[in-house]
This record gives sequence, C-alpha cells and structure tokens, in this order.
Amino acid sequence: MTTPAAQIVDAAAYAQAVEDAVKAAAAYYAGGTSPMDDDTYDRLVRGISAWEADHPDEVLPDSPTGKVAGGAVEGDVPHTVAMLSLDNVFSPEEFAAWTASLARRIGHDVTSFSVEPKLDGLAIAARYSRGRLTRLITRGDGTAGEDVSHAIGTIEGLPEQLAEPVTVEVRGEVLMTTAQFEHANEVRTAHGGQPFANPRGASAGTLRAKDRAYTVPMTFFGYGLLPLPDTESVLAERLGQLAHSDLMATSAEYGINTTAATTVPGVTAATVEQVLARVREIEGLRAELPFGIDGVVIKADLAADQQAAGSGSRAPRWAIAYKLPAVEKITRLLEVEWNVGRTGIIAPRAVLEPVTIDGATITYATLHNPGDITRRDLRLGDHVMVHRAGDVIPRIEAPVAHLRTGEEQPIVFPEVCPRCGSGIDTSEQRWRCENGRNCHLVAALSYAAGRDQLDIEGLGATRVVQLVEAGLVSDLADLFTLTRDQLLSLDRMGETSTDNLLTAISAAKDQPLSRVLCALGVRGTGRSMSRRIARYFATMDNIRAADAETMQRVDGIGTEKAPSIVLELADLAPVIDRLAAAGVNMTEPGATPPSPATGAADDSPHAPADGAGLPLDGMTVVVTGKMSGPLEKLSRNQMNELVERAGGRSSSSVSKKTSLVVAGEGAGSKRAKAETLGIRLATPDEFAALLADFVS
Ligand code: IVH
Repeated sequence: MTTPAAQIVDAAAYAQAVEDAVKAAAAYYAGGTSPMDDDTYDRLVRGISAWEADHPDEVLPDSPTGKVAGGAVEGDVPHTVAMLSLDNVFSPEEFAAWTASLARRIGHDVTSFSVEPKLDGLAIAARYSRGRLTRLITRGDGTAGEDVSHAIGTIEGLPEQLAEPVTVEVRGEVLMTTAQFEHANEVRTAHGGQPFANPRGASAGTLRAKDRAYTVPMTFFGYGLLPLPDTESVLAERLGQLAHSDLMATSAEYGINTTAATTVPGVTAATVEQVLARVREIEGLRAELPFGIDGVVIKADLAADQQAAGSGSRAPRWAIAYKLPAVEKITRLLEVEWNVGRTGIIAPRAVLEPVTIDGATITYATLHNPGDITRRDLRLGDHVMVHRAGDVIPRIEAPVAHLRTGEEQPIVFPEVCPRCGSGIDTSEQRWRCENGRNCHLVAALSYAAGRDQLDIEGLGATRVVQLVEAGLVSDLADLFTLTRDQLLSLDRMGETSTDNLLTAISAAKDQPLSRVLCALGVRGTGRSMSRRIARYFATMDNIRAADAETMQRVDGIGTEKAPSIVLELADLAPVIDRLAAAGVNMTEPGATPPSPATGAADDSPHAPADGAGLPLDGMTVVVTGKMSGPLEKLSRNQMNELVERAGGRSSSSVSKKTSLVVAGEGAGSKRAKAETLGIRLATPDEFAALLADFVS
C-alpha cells in the first residue's frame, strides 16, 4: 500500500518542497533528527518527482531526485566502486513490469533472482586488508563517504579479523536491533543526552559520533562483497564471477554476519511468482523480527546478468527494492491513562493523536510500566515515534526529542489506585493496587468464569456486576455458595436462568486444577503457566506446600516469579480452603505428583510430570490457523490443553526449538516461519489422528 504523493501546485511550493526534503534527508543521514517519518519523506519526494516530470525545465539543482541519499551528504573518502541507491517498486504489478524491462535489456529472462530483506539501517563499506578490518566508510554521496573507523569494535557481525587473510571490501547495513536500541537510549539518557526516535536514527547518530563517553553496540549484516585495488588477482577475478548468493555464502565463511543467520535468510528464486511468494513470507515474518526492515531487495543473482544490466548513476539496473508499508509514524502523545487489570496491575496506556499506520488507525499504544515511561523520557505533548507491525499491539518507540517546544508536560504517575483509591505497591516494575484482585473484582470474576477458565455459562460481566453490587459475591469462593433464593432476588433472574446458572456453577467444580488455579488470578500465572504448575504438582496441596525453591522446578518460573507466586498463594489460602470445602476439584487429571525423595517429577527437573511414553513427549507444539475436523470446536486454549495432556509443551511462537506446527486454514506468518526453519507441519486432521486417544 502506497500513500499518495504530496501535491505540489506551483513553483514556489516546489522550491519549498525541495528545501524541506534536502533538510530532512541531511538530518536523516546525519543522526536521526529528521522531522519527518519515512513515509512523509517518500511522499514529498514523489510529489517533487511528479512536478519535475511536468516542468522539466524548472528542475532545481538541489533537488533530491536522482541522487544517492537525496544529495544530502558528502564525504571525503572515495569509494573504489560507487555505492549506489536502489529504485523502488510498491506492488506485484510494478515488480513484474520491472522484471520485464530488465529481461528486454539483457535479452533474456533473468536467470535467477536473489531475494533478501531490505534492512533498515545505514549502508557502510568495511575494508579488510589481509583479513584485518582497517577502515569503515559511510555511503556518503555514493562516490565518497565519511570515515567512521572509530566505530570498529562496536559493531557485532563485523569481525576485526576475518577467518581468511583476504583483502576485500564488505558492504552491508549497520543497524540496531530492538534490544540494542532500547539499551542505547537508556545509556544515552542516563548520560544526559536526548533519546533517539528510532533504531535507524540511533545507528546513524551512534556511527558518526566520535569521542563519546560511552559506546553502545550495533549490528552489521553484509549484502555485498567486492575486491579492492590491491586484492590478489585470482581472488579479484573469482569474486567478479560469483553469483550474489555465492558471495553471501563466502562472506559468511569469512565470518561476516549475513541474513543467513536470521529467520529471513536470503534465498534464490527462479520466477516472478516465486519472488512474490517470498516477499509475502518476509512480510509475514516482519512483525517478529528483532530488527527493522523496510522492504525486500530483489537482485539478479548471476554476475553475468548483472553485468549485462549495468547501472545508472543513482541505482543499479539489476536490483530493485520492493518497499513494504511503513510501520512507523510520528504522532503526538496526548494523555496517559492508568488502567487496573483483573489482578490489580495498574498499567499505563498512551492516548495518541490518531495516526494511520499500514491502513489501521492507531489511537492507543502500550507503555508497559511506569519505569518504561521514565526510561524513555516521555512527556505529555511530545511527538512520538509509534511502531505497529502486523497484529502486535502498537508501541511508542521513543519521543522525537528535537521536535520539543518546551511546552511538554511531565507525565504524572498516580499516587493512589485510580480505581479504588487504595495504596499502590510499587516494589516491582509493574505497579499493583494494594487491594490486588479485589480492586477490580468484576474483571477478576468475569475472567474466572470465562470459557478458558471455569467456563461458567451465563456468568458474563453484567451478571457479575449485579452479584458484586448486591453484595452477594466478594471473592471467587462466594460463587460456589450462592443459593437459589439469592439468585432469584436479582433483577432479570427468572427460575430458568437461575437453575441454569446453578447447574453451570456446579459443573465448574469439576474443572481440572489448572483451570481453577488460573481462575484464582495469581499474578504471573496465565493459562499456560497454570497448566504447567498444575501438571508438575498434580494437587493443590502440593502446590501450596511448595516453597520458592521448589516452585522454580516448574518450567518458566525463575527466581523472580517464584517467591511472588508462593506469597500470593499464601494470601489466597482462605479462598482456596473455601473453594475446596465447596467441593471444587483440586487435582489435575493425568498428572503424577513429584516424588518426595527427589522433589522432581522425573529425572529432568523441567519435564512435564508424566510425559514419558505419551505421543508428544518432549515436543514443543505450536497451533495456528483455524482448526477443522474432529478439532473444529476446540478453542486455542483447549488445543493447548490437548497438547499438554499428550505430553507436549504448547507454545504460541515458532522458533528453532519448535518440534511441530499444527497449521489450520488461514495460518499465516507462523506457518511461513515453520517452512523457513524446516519445522514439521501437520494439518488439524493429521494432528487429530496422531492424538486419536486424547481427542474425545
Ligand atoms: S544492495 C548496489 N541489499 O538500501 C546495490 N541494499 O535504498 C545497493 N539496503 O544503500 C545495495 N538492505 O543501504 C542492498 N539486502 C540489501 C539491503 C540494501 C538494505 C539498503 C542499502 C542501500 C539502500 C538503498
């Protein structure tokens, strides 16, 4: 999806647009202080191009069109071979047209394409002399760049010594991963500096900064390898003949980081359709990448095809950037709301001036916790860089500090719970109302009654409000002692609804321990954690007997979580006792308690209590897409329960550790990722057959 070009109406507007664009480009390459996000800049340049096409005699010499880096930067270290830019396409049709024109130019179809992510950082040339990294040069205006050798040693993936003593130039992108960016901003603000607005700006600023009191790491990905004037002639000749994909493999052998080490490795493709399929795959994986990409670069893979195509002054004719929709936009932070969740967590949420990112209007963004606000140095009224990719909740990347006017106001943190006025426990990163789950009793009980917990039909939020307001229920256990008369006394509760609700409540007593535990709303124990705890300990008595050390034997519970779980369970003791007295089940079907002698359920401390011999023993399974056949009616939570009953571990994200992905209809990025990583896939029907004994 492309946003329309800026409209330029006359020569004066054109001159202004050129001036704005040059300023923005200069700032962009200098260190991330551009007042425009990429999308706005692209629109402006497209507007400029359109006006120039209609007024070819009035093109200003400063115009950014047709120049590397928009003509904004210069350098003093000449490049041996020009460092060019790339032309863009925005749709399958434009890509197909580009390949067709390339085929006409070289006289035949492109033999093979290479397809790789377009990394969103800065181009850099790294010169190696007999295997030693001697010089780092920015792209500059394409003919000469700036020497940034002072950054040697701070860029991961760009070793100071190659595995072989070769004299070569490696070209690629320097960027910051999300984690590196957050670290960089923390260090920078701790030193009294202003935060960078986004990872790209942070890398630009960091790369060019000399004599800083601190260094922050960045990451390099190679996408080019070429000989230097004093490269040994045999090697120079060989490099000149290698396909792009072979150059990348050679770079990796030398010890250079390439996309091969990521979930979006460069691949080769024979046809336009294959290229487009790969573009879609990369787009699907984008939200999960630990670094930013702004498109996909498609290159003619063979050296002979590249030579036949040649290069223009700005960009090669053998490569093209397929741009993906922008995931970042600048907008304003209007307000911060503080919401209390079902466990009493007080979570800040940013209210934004609405902004459209990739077709979706964004009004809210997560702020995680109060510490996060302080670390990011956010203020009300700030311009902020908002990031939203795929279905992930939008987040504020950072304030755009250089757009501050001085009118911005500090964000005021609540001193008492915004919901009930109780004190706030600020001892952990996430603040919590001292009233805990009782603060937002309605939310806590509605969650407990929900389909994936106790599954009490007829007990929705409205009914819970009624029960709480009538004073009939003040905790989870009260639900199980409600009488027929009490329910009948409520508005809109007839005999039938009352009897149905009582039956549903009674049925809930037989839910497995994992669901009862989850319904209790112990902080840090959602559905899957509750299942792991229940399977490990098998009975509520065992869970309650566990101290923090024993609690850590459960997979995923570490030194931080364990004591807080133990503490909360102790607080919940009266409620749990009353639940048990009311006849609520306190055991996990099929789970074997850990043997008291070793304290562990079996030899391995992290294995499920009874995994051995089960069909999914030792396997990590991800379920995605719509289920069908015998599994059609199962919710995602029920699917996860099934996986765990069959001895497996359920997970929601695909990684190298995943053993099996059950992919139903409409499975998107997770399926793509599984294919890329070569992970076994099963249809819902195949999976149902595998677990025939477990599917009821
Ligand atoms: S190839 C002569 N490959 O995109 C070929 N560039 O907009 C030009 N970029 O200057 C470079 N990822 O900074 C190439 N896989 C990739 C890339 C890539 C990011 C950057 C590079 C280039 C810019 C052009």
